Amino acid sequence: MKTTIAEVGKYVEKTVTIGAWLANKRSSGKIAFLQLRDGTGFIQGVVVKAEVSEESFKLAKEITQESSLYVTGTVRKDERSPSGYELTVESLEVIHHAKDYPITPKEHGTEFLMDHRHLWLRSKRQHAIMKVRNEIIRATYEFFNENGFSKVDPPILTGSSAEGTTNLFHTKYFDEDAYLSQSGQLYMEAAAMALGKVFSFGPTFRAEKSKTRRHLIEFWMIEPEMAFMDHEESLEVQENYVTHVVQSVLSNCQQELATLERDTSKLEKVKSPFPRISYDDAIELLQKDGYEIKWGEDFGAPHETAIAEKFEKPVFITNYPADIKAFYMKPHPERPEVVLCADLIAPEGYGEIIGGSQRIDDEELMVKRYEEHNLSIDAYQWYLDLRKYGSVPHSGFGLGLERTVAWMCGVEHVRETIPFPRLLNRLYP
Ligand code: 4AD
Ligand code: MG
Repeated sequence: MKTTIAEVGKYVEKTVTIGAWLANKRSSGKIAFLQLRDGTGFIQGVVVKAEVSEESFKLAKEITQESSLYVTGTVRKDERSPSGYELTVESLEVIHHAKDYPITPKEHGTEFLMDHRHLWLRSKRQHAIMKVRNEIIRATYEFFNENGFSKVDPPILTGSSAEGTTNLFHTKYFDEDAYLSQSGQLYMEAAAMALGKVFSFGPTFRAEKSKTRRHLIEFWMIEPEMAFMDHEESLEVQENYVTHVVQSVLSNCQQELATLERDTSKLEKVKSPFPRISYDDAIELLQKDGYEIKWGEDFGAPHETAIAEKFEKPVFITNYPADIKAFYMKPHPERPEVVLCADLIAPEGYGEIIGGSQRIDDEELMVKRYEEHNLSIDAYQWYLDLRKYGSVPHSGFGLGLERTVAWMCGVEHVRETIPFPRLLNRLYP
């Protein structure tokens, strides 16, 4: 029976054939232990000289790392193995002999691994990270589908910017100028006026010259937008969504989290509701801790980490000064110098994973903001129309997928959380 490593549990004590690659190998004169991987998982194949043909044992001894093969053997339950099973090999057939695979089980430097990202992805740790990423995506669709949201796809090529003009990727659009999307939000607001509750999930581009462990040039963002919802209600959606993602990863990625040696006790505590702290209080708290930061200044990574350390769960920092936030955020009704917004800061130093706000729904105020931010009324006329025809209170947010993967997996740098990272000095592979 042809099967996959993930499915071997159905065939205990039966003979199966698996298409696999050789991840690693140990052998002596009489026995060979093959670490096999097929994309669905990892399993050990045991080849005993006395029990297989001479030809098969010779192949087992000679086979090189990352060669591809068909392995036929009997599935055994094995408590000691991480997958719970082992394969007693009966015969081997080599499909392709790999020569001099560059990534050996020894340690390699980061740049070397990044240059070989197309191969590095095959390693056990990278495989685990990609599986966790996939689970977050699956849980995202599940959450929004179960909560009455429709998925809407905003354009990637745009004529306007959502998050300021400093980090736009410029390109020609025939004779016009165009930019790669830095957020689908403005279009999602239009979609919310048509479909009520919507979410997008797509690539996002920021020409950021910052070289930090939290910044990618190209990343993926989930952007829900909800009509007839105020900021407080949006925060509830956010904490329920993040709780669902974290609990799904804990339930469905136990093996991957074990591979990554993730301390899951910290993730288990992540359940709604999440604490909230105002920007004002956060500044005061930082000043008490000796940070030189004044009201009106934005937080850097060390500030976010210092605040996050006071809490066991992700924490919302609410009501930032209008001056340091995007043009579309609705002012606080009693304190117009701050806006109805929040950033969600992950625990353990993983930084801001969500940025969200209630949006300005008043046409006149929006026109004023266009003027203050030098936004051309021509390019943004369509966005103003949303305030002209049946304007309603509405809110939304954006969750950065890679930072969320980094947090779930406990990995230091976002470059390992996306299959092919685009970084400041990296467009290859
Ligand atoms: O805070 P940001 O810039 O918010 C927006 O773009 C809003 N328009 C979203 C909305 O309300 N619909 O980005 C949202 C999230 C951040 O919290 C962060 O997780 C992630 O996107 N992010 C990045 N992730 C990786 N690399 C970068 N350069 C990122 N910039 C933002
Ligand atoms: Mg932000």
